[in-house]
Amino acid sequence: MSTPGLSAGHSGLMDRVYRHQRHIYDLTRKYYLLGRDRMISELDPPGGGTVLELGCGTGRNLILAARRFPQAHFHGIDISAEMLATARASIARAGLSHRITVAQADATAFDAEALFGRSDFDRVFISYALSMIPGWERSVSAALAVTNGSVHIVDFGQQEGLPGWFRTLLRGWLARFHVAPRQTLAKEIAGQADAAGRSFGFVSLYRGYAWLIVVGSQKSI
Ligand SMILES: C[S@@+](CC[C@H](N)C(=O)[O-])C[C@H]1O[C@@H](n2cnc3c(N)ncnc32)[C@H](O)[C@@H]1O
Repeated sequence: MSTPGLSAGHSGLMDRVYRHQRHIYDLTRKYYLLGRDRMISELDPPGGGTVLELGCGTGRNLILAARRFPQAHFHGIDISAEMLATARASIARAGLSHRITVAQADATAFDAEALFGRSDFDRVFISYALSMIPGWERSVSAALAVTNGSVHIVDFGQQEGLPGWFRTLLRGWLARFHVAPRQTLAKEIAGQADAAGRSFGFVSLYRGYAWLIVVGSQKSI
């Protein structure tokens, strides 16, 4: 049976990419999904607050964030049932099932009320998922639509300060996993932030290996 609102083609592709990878995902990705821990440390949700991750994968970020901010409640969506199986097992093993809930949904079009019984969150974050989501711009809009608080995004940058050969090797290797660093990531998010009257913060990490973006609740005057 298919889940309503899911792109069967893309969710099937993600399941195929991660069916085996999910077992070694957290161990291997810690060496190249850089900037995630910094992004998590900056979430700083209010006491009793709620946080949503789009494209939560194995739940690694949700677990770290829940440990760091023990007063908050966390939610995650992912299109891959395979990844969510790992996430649920890891969350249960960490003893955090009462504070972290995950559900299968497409980050470009989801109904948070139907999934989690709430339509707004204090923080939303997206970590290394926009580079895998077709129509990723809609996920940025969806993130902004479900919070008046900040939206935190970390993903591959354009490797602007790194040698050309490194960039070529990295791009070729990422393409094998259907990952495409988004050239217009910062520009698109800055445009959406501006249209919504929100502040936009951008930091390029490790010579452009990763980009960290924070859309604030309001533009400072
Ligand atoms: C590289 S992983 C990142 C996982 C996690 N955020 C992290 O930082 O470890 C990308 C995740 O995005 C998910 N994903 C891809 N397309 C998606 C979509 N349209 N909606 C929701 N999740 C999606 C994949 O299934 C995968 O779990």
